[in-house]
Amino acid sequence: MEKAAVILAAGHGTRMRSSKAKVLHEIWGKPMINHVVEAYLAAGVQRLIVVVGHQGEAVQEALAGYHQVKFAWQEEQLGTGHAVMQAQSELEGFDGPVIVGYGDAPLYRPETLQQLVEEHVQAESMCTLLTALYEDPFGYGRVIRDGDGRFVEVVEERDATKEQKAIREINTGTYVFAGKNLFSALGQLTNDNAQSEYYLTDVPAILKKQGGEISLVVCQDPAETQGINSKVQLAKAAAVMRNRVLEKLMLSGVTIVDPATTYIDAEVTIAPDTIIYPFTIIEGRSRIEEECIIGPGTRIVSCEIGAGAEIVQSTLLESKVGDETTVGPFAYLRPNTVIGCQARIGDFVEIKNSNIKDGAKIPHLSYVGDADIGANANLGAGSITCNFDGRKKSRTVVEDNAFVGSNANLVAPVTVGEGAFVAAGSTITKDIPAKALGVGRAKQTVREGWVDRRR
Ligand code: UD1
Ligand code: CA
Repeated sequence: MEKAAVILAAGHGTRMRSSKAKVLHEIWGKPMINHVVEAYLAAGVQRLIVVVGHQGEAVQEALAGYHQVKFAWQEEQLGTGHAVMQAQSELEGFDGPVIVGYGDAPLYRPETLQQLVEEHVQAESMCTLLTALYEDPFGYGRVIRDGDGRFVEVVEERDATKEQKAIREINTGTYVFAGKNLFSALGQLTNDNAQSEYYLTDVPAILKKQGGEISLVVCQDPAETQGINSKVQLAKAAAVMRNRVLEKLMLSGVTIVDPATTYIDAEVTIAPDTIIYPFTIIEGRSRIEEECIIGPGTRIVSCEIGAGAEIVQSTLLESKVGDETTVGPFAYLRPNTVIGCQARIGDFVEIKNSNIKDGAKIPHLSYVGDADIGANANLGAGSITCNFDGRKKSRTVVEDNAFVGSNANLVAPVTVGEGAFVAAGSTITKDIPAKALGVGRAKQTVREGWVDRRR
Protein backbone atom coordinates (compact mmCIF):
# COMPACT_ATOMS: atom_id res chain seq x y z
CA MET A 1 0.00 0.00 0.00
CA GLU A 2 1.25 3.46 -0.86
CA LYS A 3 2.22 5.53 2.19
CA ALA A 4 2.58 9.29 2.35
CA ALA A 5 4.19 11.44 5.02
CA VAL A 6 4.24 15.09 5.99
CA ILE A 7 7.19 16.31 8.05
CA LEU A 8 6.94 19.70 9.70
CA ALA A 9 10.07 21.78 9.55
CA ALA A 10 8.92 25.37 9.15
CA GLY A 11 9.44 26.69 12.67
CA HIS A 12 12.42 28.72 13.87
CA GLY A 13 12.87 26.89 17.16
CA THR A 14 13.32 29.88 19.46
CA ARG A 15 14.26 27.67 22.41
CA MET A 16 17.51 26.74 20.62
CA ARG A 17 18.60 30.39 21.04
CA SER A 18 20.31 30.30 17.70
CA SER A 19 20.13 32.27 14.46
CA LYS A 20 19.99 28.92 12.61
CA ALA A 21 16.66 27.17 12.07
CA LYS A 22 16.28 24.31 14.52
CA VAL A 23 16.00 21.46 12.02
CA LEU A 24 19.35 22.48 10.47
CA HIS A 25 21.32 21.93 13.66
CA GLU A 26 23.64 19.02 13.13
CA ILE A 27 23.52 15.87 15.09
CA TRP A 28 25.91 13.02 14.43
CA GLY A 29 27.35 14.63 11.32
CA LYS A 30 24.23 15.85 9.54
CA PRO A 31 21.30 18.20 10.03
CA MET A 32 18.58 16.70 12.21
CA ILE A 33 16.03 17.02 9.39
CA ASN A 34 18.18 14.65 7.28
CA HIS A 35 17.96 11.96 9.96
CA VAL A 36 14.18 12.37 10.02
CA VAL A 37 13.84 12.16 6.23
CA GLU A 38 16.12 9.09 6.07
CA ALA A 39 14.05 7.25 8.69
CA TYR A 40 10.84 7.93 6.72
CA LEU A 41 12.36 6.84 3.43
CA ALA A 42 13.73 3.69 5.07
CA ALA A 43 10.21 3.02 6.40
CA GLY A 44 9.06 2.82 2.79
CA VAL A 45 7.25 6.14 2.48
CA GLN A 46 6.80 6.88 -1.23
CA ARG A 47 5.32 10.37 -1.05
CA LEU A 48 7.25 12.55 1.35
CA ILE A 49 6.40 16.23 1.82
CA VAL A 50 8.51 18.47 4.02
CA VAL A 51 6.81 21.68 5.15
CA VAL A 52 9.39 24.48 5.15
CA GLY A 53 9.20 28.15 6.12
CA HIS A 54 11.81 29.64 8.42
CA GLN A 55 15.10 29.48 6.43
CA GLY A 56 13.20 27.27 4.01
CA GLU A 57 15.75 27.63 1.20
CA ALA A 58 18.51 26.32 3.46
CA VAL A 59 16.33 23.40 4.52
CA GLN A 60 15.61 22.59 0.88
CA GLU A 61 19.31 22.71 0.16
CA ALA A 62 20.09 20.34 3.05
CA LEU A 63 17.59 17.88 1.56
CA ALA A 64 18.57 18.35 -2.09
CA GLY A 65 20.11 14.87 -2.23
CA TYR A 66 16.81 13.08 -1.58
CA HIS A 67 15.02 13.34 -4.90
CA GLN A 68 11.80 11.75 -3.56
CA VAL A 69 11.20 14.70 -1.21
CA LYS A 70 8.68 17.39 -2.18
CA PHE A 71 8.32 20.69 -0.40
CA ALA A 72 5.36 22.73 0.77
CA TRP A 73 5.78 26.29 2.03
CA GLN A 74 4.31 27.68 5.23
CA GLU A 75 4.94 31.40 4.90
CA GLU A 76 3.72 32.29 8.39
CA GLN A 77 4.21 29.88 11.26
CA LEU A 78 0.70 29.75 12.68
CA GLY A 79 1.03 26.35 14.35
CA THR A 80 1.58 22.67 13.60
CA GLY A 81 -1.99 22.17 12.30
CA HIS A 82 -1.62 25.12 9.95
CA ALA A 83 1.69 23.65 8.76
CA VAL A 84 0.07 20.35 7.73
CA MET A 85 -2.63 22.27 5.79
CA GLN A 86 0.09 23.56 3.47
CA ALA A 87 0.70 20.03 2.19
CA GLN A 88 -2.88 19.65 0.94
CA SER A 89 -2.26 20.33 -2.73
CA GLU A 90 0.63 17.82 -2.81
CA LEU A 91 -1.69 15.13 -1.41
CA GLU A 92 -4.80 15.97 -3.47
CA GLY A 93 -6.83 12.81 -3.98
CA PHE A 94 -4.54 10.60 -1.87
CA ASP A 95 -6.60 8.39 0.45
CA GLY A 96 -4.00 6.00 1.86
CA PRO A 97 -2.31 6.41 5.25
CA VAL A 98 -0.48 9.69 5.88
CA ILE A 99 2.17 9.75 8.60
CA VAL A 100 2.63 13.17 10.11
CA GLY A 101 5.77 13.85 12.12
CA TYR A 102 7.99 16.67 13.30
CA GLY A 103 11.36 17.61 11.88
CA ASP A 104 12.80 18.05 15.37
CA ALA A 105 12.52 14.36 16.32
CA PRO A 106 15.50 12.61 14.67
CA LEU A 107 15.66 9.39 16.70
CA TYR A 108 12.85 7.34 15.23
CA ARG A 109 13.70 3.92 13.91
CA PRO A 110 12.14 3.09 10.53
CA GLU A 111 10.59 -0.06 12.03
CA THR A 112 8.67 2.02 14.56
CA LEU A 113 7.10 4.11 11.79
CA GLN A 114 6.32 1.00 9.74
CA GLN A 115 4.64 -0.72 12.70
CA LEU A 116 2.59 2.36 13.46
CA VAL A 117 1.20 2.39 9.93
CA GLU A 118 0.47 -1.36 10.07
CA GLU A 119 -1.49 -1.01 13.32
CA HIS A 120 -3.38 1.95 11.88
CA VAL A 121 -4.37 0.05 8.76
CA GLN A 122 -5.31 -3.11 10.65
CA ALA A 123 -7.53 -1.23 13.13
CA GLU A 124 -9.10 0.71 10.26
CA SER A 125 -8.63 3.86 12.33
CA MET A 126 -9.12 7.42 11.22
CA CYS A 127 -6.14 8.42 13.30
CA THR A 128 -3.45 6.55 15.24
CA LEU A 129 -1.35 8.44 17.75
CA LEU A 130 2.03 7.24 18.92
CA THR A 131 2.35 7.96 22.63
CA ALA A 132 5.12 7.31 25.15
CA LEU A 133 5.48 7.18 28.91
CA TYR A 134 8.00 9.74 30.12
CA GLU A 135 9.56 10.08 33.57
CA ASP A 136 9.53 13.82 33.02
CA PRO A 137 6.75 14.80 30.62
CA PHE A 138 7.34 18.56 30.99
CA GLY A 139 6.88 20.51 27.78
CA TYR A 140 5.06 17.77 25.86
CA GLY A 141 1.38 17.47 25.00
CA ARG A 142 -0.38 15.07 27.40
CA VAL A 143 -2.67 12.29 26.19
CA ILE A 144 -6.03 12.28 27.99
CA ARG A 145 -7.85 8.92 28.13
CA ASP A 146 -11.33 8.15 29.44
CA GLY A 147 -12.16 5.58 32.14
CA ASP A 148 -11.98 2.78 29.55
CA GLY A 149 -8.56 3.87 28.41
CA ARG A 150 -9.90 5.31 25.17
CA PHE A 151 -8.59 8.49 23.58
CA VAL A 152 -10.24 11.76 24.58
CA GLU A 153 -7.86 14.56 23.57
CA VAL A 154 -4.31 15.93 23.60
CA VAL A 155 -3.67 18.89 25.89
CA GLU A 156 -0.58 21.03 25.44
CA GLU A 157 1.62 21.81 28.46
CA ARG A 158 0.61 25.48 28.36
CA ASP A 159 -3.10 24.66 28.26
CA ALA A 160 -3.02 21.83 30.80
CA THR A 161 -4.56 21.89 34.27
CA LYS A 162 -2.48 20.81 37.26
CA GLU A 163 -4.06 17.32 37.17
CA GLN A 164 -3.40 16.97 33.46
CA LYS A 165 0.23 18.02 33.93
CA ALA A 166 0.68 15.02 36.23
CA ILE A 167 -0.09 12.63 33.35
CA ARG A 168 3.04 10.85 32.12
CA GLU A 169 1.70 9.64 28.80
CA ILE A 170 2.80 12.16 26.19
CA ASN A 171 1.99 12.87 22.57
CA THR A 172 5.16 11.94 20.68
CA GLY A 173 4.09 14.06 17.72
CA THR A 174 3.97 11.13 15.31
CA TYR A 175 0.57 10.25 13.94
CA VAL A 176 -1.00 8.29 11.11
CA PHE A 177 -4.12 9.78 9.55
CA ALA A 178 -6.49 8.40 6.95
CA GLY A 179 -5.72 10.59 3.95
CA LYS A 180 -9.34 11.16 3.03
CA ASN A 181 -10.34 12.78 6.38
CA LEU A 182 -7.22 14.68 7.33
CA PHE A 183 -7.65 17.95 5.47
CA SER A 184 -11.36 18.40 6.18
CA ALA A 185 -10.61 18.01 9.91
CA LEU A 186 -7.73 20.51 9.65
CA GLY A 187 -10.23 22.97 8.19
CA GLN A 188 -12.16 22.88 11.44
CA LEU A 189 -9.24 23.90 13.68
CA THR A 190 -9.41 27.09 15.72
CA ASN A 191 -6.57 28.94 17.40
CA ASP A 192 -8.40 29.32 20.67
CA ASN A 193 -5.51 28.34 23.01
CA ALA A 194 -2.62 29.69 25.07
CA GLN A 195 -0.42 30.29 22.01
CA SER A 196 -3.13 31.38 19.54
CA GLU A 197 -1.89 28.68 17.16
CA TYR A 198 -3.64 26.08 15.03
CA TYR A 199 -2.62 22.93 16.88
CA LEU A 200 -2.33 19.68 14.96
CA THR A 201 -2.93 18.02 18.32
CA ASP A 202 -6.59 19.09 18.20
CA VAL A 203 -7.23 17.11 15.00
CA PRO A 204 -7.64 13.65 16.61
CA ALA A 205 -10.38 14.97 18.94
CA ILE A 206 -12.15 16.56 15.94
CA LEU A 207 -12.04 13.24 14.07
CA LYS A 208 -13.36 11.45 17.13
CA LYS A 209 -16.34 13.82 17.30
CA GLN A 210 -17.07 12.88 13.69
CA GLY A 211 -17.35 9.27 14.85
CA GLY A 212 -13.89 8.16 13.70
CA GLU A 213 -11.89 5.43 15.43
CA ILE A 214 -8.82 6.89 17.18
CA SER A 215 -6.12 4.41 18.22
CA LEU A 216 -3.33 4.92 20.69
CA VAL A 217 -0.05 3.03 20.33
CA VAL A 218 2.47 3.27 23.17
CA CYS A 219 6.06 3.35 21.93
CA GLN A 220 8.18 0.64 23.57
CA ASP A 221 11.34 2.74 23.59
CA PRO A 222 10.54 6.28 24.75
CA ALA A 223 14.11 7.40 23.93
CA GLU A 224 13.23 7.16 20.22
CA THR A 225 10.48 9.73 20.49
CA GLN A 226 12.40 12.60 22.05
CA GLY A 227 11.90 15.96 20.42
CA ILE A 228 14.70 18.50 20.33
CA ASN A 229 13.80 21.98 21.54
CA SER A 230 17.04 23.11 23.19
CA LYS A 231 20.78 22.51 22.92
CA VAL A 232 20.57 20.35 26.03
CA GLN A 233 18.15 18.03 24.23
CA LEU A 234 20.36 18.17 21.14
CA ALA A 235 23.30 16.76 23.11
CA LYS A 236 21.09 14.10 24.69
CA ALA A 237 19.81 12.98 21.30
CA ALA A 238 23.39 12.80 19.98
CA ALA A 239 24.27 10.56 22.91
CA VAL A 240 21.33 8.27 22.14
CA MET A 241 22.47 7.94 18.51
CA ARG A 242 26.06 7.32 19.53
CA ASN A 243 25.09 4.63 22.01
CA ARG A 244 22.91 2.86 19.49
CA VAL A 245 25.88 2.43 17.17
CA LEU A 246 28.23 1.38 19.99
CA GLU A 247 25.77 -1.12 21.45
CA LYS A 248 25.21 -2.73 18.08
CA LEU A 249 28.98 -3.13 17.65
CA MET A 250 29.46 -4.50 21.15
CA LEU A 251 26.63 -7.00 20.68
CA SER A 252 28.33 -8.14 17.46
CA GLY A 253 31.56 -8.87 19.34
CA VAL A 254 33.62 -5.68 19.24
CA THR A 255 35.23 -4.69 22.54
CA ILE A 256 34.75 -1.01 23.33
CA VAL A 257 36.76 -0.24 26.42
CA ASP A 258 35.14 3.12 27.16
CA PRO A 259 31.93 3.90 25.28
CA ALA A 260 31.79 7.37 26.85
CA THR A 261 34.86 8.51 24.89
CA THR A 262 34.36 6.53 21.70
CA TYR A 263 32.65 7.98 18.62
CA ILE A 264 31.83 5.70 15.71
CA ASP A 265 29.74 6.64 12.69
CA ALA A 266 26.75 4.53 11.75
CA GLU A 267 28.27 3.38 8.43
CA VAL A 268 31.47 1.99 10.01
CA THR A 269 31.84 -1.81 10.08
CA ILE A 270 34.08 -3.54 12.61
CA ALA A 271 34.65 -7.29 12.88
CA PRO A 272 34.50 -9.21 16.17
CA ASP A 273 37.39 -9.32 18.63
CA THR A 274 38.73 -5.96 17.61
CA ILE A 275 39.41 -3.80 20.65
CA ILE A 276 38.71 -0.08 20.59
CA TYR A 277 40.57 1.83 23.28
CA PRO A 278 39.37 5.20 24.70
CA PHE A 279 39.35 8.53 22.90
CA THR A 280 38.90 7.03 19.48
CA ILE A 281 36.83 8.44 16.62
CA ILE A 282 36.02 6.31 13.58
CA GLU A 283 34.18 8.08 10.77
CA GLY A 284 32.85 7.67 7.26
CA ARG A 285 32.65 4.31 5.57
CA SER A 286 35.56 2.80 7.45
CA ARG A 287 35.94 -0.98 7.56
CA ILE A 288 37.98 -2.66 10.27
CA GLU A 289 38.67 -6.40 10.27
CA GLU A 290 38.94 -8.75 13.25
CA GLU A 291 41.43 -8.72 16.11
CA CYS A 292 42.71 -5.22 15.55
CA ILE A 293 43.79 -2.90 18.31
CA ILE A 294 42.58 0.61 17.66
CA GLY A 295 43.49 3.51 19.95
CA PRO A 296 43.81 4.97 22.42
CA GLY A 297 43.55 8.41 20.92
CA THR A 298 43.04 7.49 17.27
CA ARG A 299 41.01 9.09 14.50
CA ILE A 300 40.18 7.01 11.44
CA VAL A 301 38.22 8.49 8.54
CA SER A 302 37.04 6.32 5.63
CA CYS A 303 39.81 3.71 5.91
CA GLU A 304 40.16 -0.04 5.48
CA ILE A 305 42.12 -1.74 8.23
CA GLY A 306 43.20 -5.38 7.87
CA ALA A 307 42.95 -8.12 10.48
CA GLY A 308 45.26 -7.92 13.46
CA ALA A 309 46.49 -4.41 12.71
CA GLU A 310 47.40 -2.07 15.57
CA ILE A 311 46.73 1.64 15.26
CA VAL A 312 47.81 3.65 18.28
CA GLN A 313 47.40 7.42 18.79
CA SER A 314 47.33 8.20 15.12
CA THR A 315 45.25 9.91 12.47
CA LEU A 316 44.36 7.98 9.30
CA LEU A 317 42.44 9.52 6.42
CA GLU A 318 41.12 7.64 3.37
CA SER A 319 43.86 5.03 3.54
CA LYS A 320 44.31 1.26 3.62
CA VAL A 321 46.33 -0.68 6.16
CA GLY A 322 47.10 -4.38 5.62
CA ASP A 323 46.86 -7.30 8.03
CA GLU A 324 49.09 -7.25 11.11
CA THR A 325 50.62 -3.90 10.29
CA THR A 326 51.34 -1.53 13.16
CA VAL A 327 50.84 2.22 12.92
CA GLY A 328 51.84 4.86 15.47
CA PRO A 329 52.00 6.24 18.00
CA PHE A 330 51.65 9.66 16.41
CA ALA A 331 51.56 8.64 12.77
CA TYR A 332 49.59 10.64 10.21
CA LEU A 333 48.35 8.79 7.12
CA ARG A 334 46.88 11.20 4.61
CA PRO A 335 44.56 10.25 1.76
CA ASN A 336 45.50 7.59 -0.74
CA THR A 337 48.06 5.79 1.37
CA VAL A 338 48.06 2.03 0.90
CA ILE A 339 50.11 -0.03 3.32
CA GLY A 340 50.62 -3.78 2.93
CA CYS A 341 50.72 -6.52 5.53
CA GLN A 342 53.11 -6.81 8.47
CA ALA A 343 54.56 -3.39 7.78
CA ARG A 344 55.60 -0.99 10.50
CA ILE A 345 54.83 2.72 10.47
CA GLY A 346 56.23 4.26 13.63
CA ASP A 347 56.15 7.51 15.55
CA PHE A 348 56.00 10.92 13.89
CA VAL A 349 55.71 9.53 10.39
CA GLU A 350 53.58 11.32 7.81
CA ILE A 351 52.63 9.49 4.62
CA LYS A 352 50.46 10.63 1.74
CA ASN A 353 49.52 9.25 -1.67
CA SER A 354 51.97 6.35 -1.38
CA ASN A 355 52.14 2.58 -1.61
CA ILE A 356 54.06 0.84 1.12
CA LYS A 357 54.49 -2.88 0.42
CA ASP A 358 54.41 -5.85 2.80
CA GLY A 359 56.95 -5.87 5.58
CA ALA A 360 58.33 -2.40 4.85
CA LYS A 361 59.48 -0.36 7.85
CA ILE A 362 59.28 3.38 8.34
CA PRO A 363 59.81 3.42 12.06
CA HIS A 364 60.58 7.02 13.05
CA LEU A 365 60.32 10.68 12.00
CA SER A 366 59.78 10.42 8.25
CA TYR A 367 57.85 12.23 5.56
CA VAL A 368 56.84 9.99 2.65
CA GLY A 369 54.87 11.66 -0.12
CA ASP A 370 54.05 10.32 -3.60
CA ALA A 371 56.26 7.28 -3.10
CA ASP A 372 56.34 3.56 -3.78
CA ILE A 373 58.20 1.74 -1.03
CA GLY A 374 58.96 -1.92 -1.80
CA ALA A 375 58.49 -5.03 0.29
CA ASN A 376 60.78 -5.26 3.33
CA ALA A 377 62.44 -1.95 2.48
CA ASN A 378 63.60 0.12 5.42
CA LEU A 379 63.56 3.90 5.73
CA GLY A 380 65.81 4.96 8.59
CA ALA A 381 64.90 7.55 11.19
CA GLY A 382 64.40 10.99 9.74
CA SER A 383 64.64 9.99 6.09
CA ILE A 384 62.25 11.85 3.83
CA THR A 385 61.09 12.16 0.27
CA CYS A 386 61.53 15.57 -1.35
CA ASN A 387 58.51 15.25 -3.60
CA PHE A 388 57.81 18.90 -4.40
CA ASP A 389 60.15 21.23 -6.26
CA GLY A 390 57.95 24.26 -5.75
CA ARG A 391 56.08 23.68 -9.00
CA LYS A 392 55.29 20.02 -9.43
CA LYS A 393 55.11 16.82 -7.42
CA SER A 394 57.27 13.84 -8.46
CA ARG A 395 57.42 10.22 -7.34
CA THR A 396 60.06 8.43 -5.34
CA VAL A 397 60.56 4.69 -5.80
CA VAL A 398 62.35 2.55 -3.23
CA GLU A 399 62.40 -1.02 -4.47
CA ASP A 400 62.08 -4.25 -2.46
CA ASN A 401 64.63 -4.88 0.30
CA ALA A 402 66.36 -1.52 -0.17
CA PHE A 403 67.86 0.09 2.91
CA VAL A 404 67.73 3.85 3.26
CA GLY A 405 69.95 5.08 6.10
CA SER A 406 68.87 7.63 8.63
CA ASN A 407 68.22 11.22 7.66
CA ALA A 408 68.47 10.66 3.91
CA ASN A 409 66.77 13.05 1.50
CA LEU A 410 65.37 11.31 -1.57
CA VAL A 411 64.93 14.08 -4.14
CA ALA A 412 62.16 13.02 -6.54
CA PRO A 413 61.93 11.85 -9.21
CA VAL A 414 64.40 9.23 -8.07
CA THR A 415 64.64 5.44 -7.73
CA VAL A 416 66.54 3.40 -5.17
CA GLY A 417 66.94 -0.02 -6.79
CA GLU A 418 66.18 -3.41 -5.34
CA GLY A 419 68.34 -4.25 -2.33
CA ALA A 420 70.33 -1.00 -2.77
CA PHE A 421 71.79 0.91 0.15
CA VAL A 422 71.66 4.64 0.85
CA ALA A 423 74.25 5.94 3.25
CA ALA A 424 72.89 7.82 6.27
CA GLY A 425 72.64 11.56 5.82
CA SER A 426 72.75 11.39 2.01
CA THR A 427 70.90 13.66 -0.36
CA ILE A 428 70.06 11.40 -3.27
CA THR A 429 69.30 13.07 -6.60
CA LYS A 430 70.34 10.28 -9.01
CA ASP A 431 68.92 6.78 -9.39
CA ILE A 432 70.76 4.05 -7.51
CA PRO A 433 70.91 0.68 -9.30
CA ALA A 434 70.00 -2.58 -7.58
CA LYS A 435 72.40 -3.72 -4.84
CA ALA A 436 74.53 -0.54 -5.22
CA LEU A 437 75.49 1.92 -2.50
CA GLY A 438 74.47 5.54 -2.90
CA VAL A 439 76.37 8.14 -0.91
CA GLY A 440 75.56 11.79 -1.33
CA ARG A 441 77.11 13.79 1.47
CA ALA A 442 80.16 15.94 2.05
CA LYS A 443 83.26 14.02 3.06
CA GLN A 444 84.00 14.42 6.72
CA THR A 445 87.31 16.04 7.72
CA VAL A 446 88.85 15.76 11.17
CA ARG A 447 91.24 18.44 12.51
CA GLU A 448 93.30 17.13 15.41
CA GLY A 449 93.72 19.53 18.32
CA TRP A 450 91.37 22.13 16.81
CA VAL A 451 89.50 22.86 20.06
CA ASP A 452 92.64 23.77 22.02
CA ARG A 453 94.01 25.91 19.21
CA ARG A 454 90.77 27.95 19.04
CA ARG A 455 91.13 29.16 22.64
C1 UD1 B 1 4.68 19.45 19.70
C2 UD1 B 1 3.25 19.01 20.00
C3 UD1 B 1 3.22 18.30 21.35
C4 UD1 B 1 4.17 17.12 21.34
C5 UD1 B 1 5.59 17.56 20.92
C6 UD1 B 1 6.44 16.33 20.67
C7 UD1 B 1 1.76 20.63 18.92
C8 UD1 B 1 0.88 21.79 19.12
N1 UD1 B 1 2.38 20.16 20.02
O1 UD1 B 1 5.05 20.43 20.67
O2 UD1 B 1 1.91 17.83 21.65
O3 UD1 B 1 4.20 16.52 22.63
O4 UD1 B 1 5.56 18.33 19.72
O5 UD1 B 1 7.78 16.68 20.41
O6 UD1 B 1 1.85 20.15 17.82
N2 UD1 B 1 6.31 23.69 13.03
C9 UD1 B 1 5.98 24.15 11.78
N3 UD1 B 1 5.14 25.21 11.66
C10 UD1 B 1 4.58 25.82 12.73
C11 UD1 B 1 4.92 25.32 14.03
C12 UD1 B 1 5.79 24.26 14.15
O7 UD1 B 1 6.45 23.63 10.77
O8 UD1 B 1 3.82 26.75 12.54
C13 UD1 B 1 7.25 22.54 13.14
C14 UD1 B 1 8.53 22.92 13.86
O9 UD1 B 1 9.51 23.32 12.93
C15 UD1 B 1 8.90 21.62 14.58
C16 UD1 B 1 7.58 20.88 14.76
O10 UD1 B 1 6.65 21.54 13.91
O11 UD1 B 1 9.78 20.83 13.81
C17 UD1 B 1 7.08 20.89 16.19
O12 UD1 B 1 6.96 22.22 16.66
P1 UD1 B 1 7.37 22.63 18.14
O13 UD1 B 1 7.14 24.05 18.30
O14 UD1 B 1 8.70 22.11 18.47
O15 UD1 B 1 6.26 21.82 18.99
P2 UD1 B 1 6.34 21.39 20.52
O16 UD1 B 1 6.11 22.56 21.38
O17 UD1 B 1 7.57 20.61 20.76
CA1 CA C 1 9.35 20.13 19.51
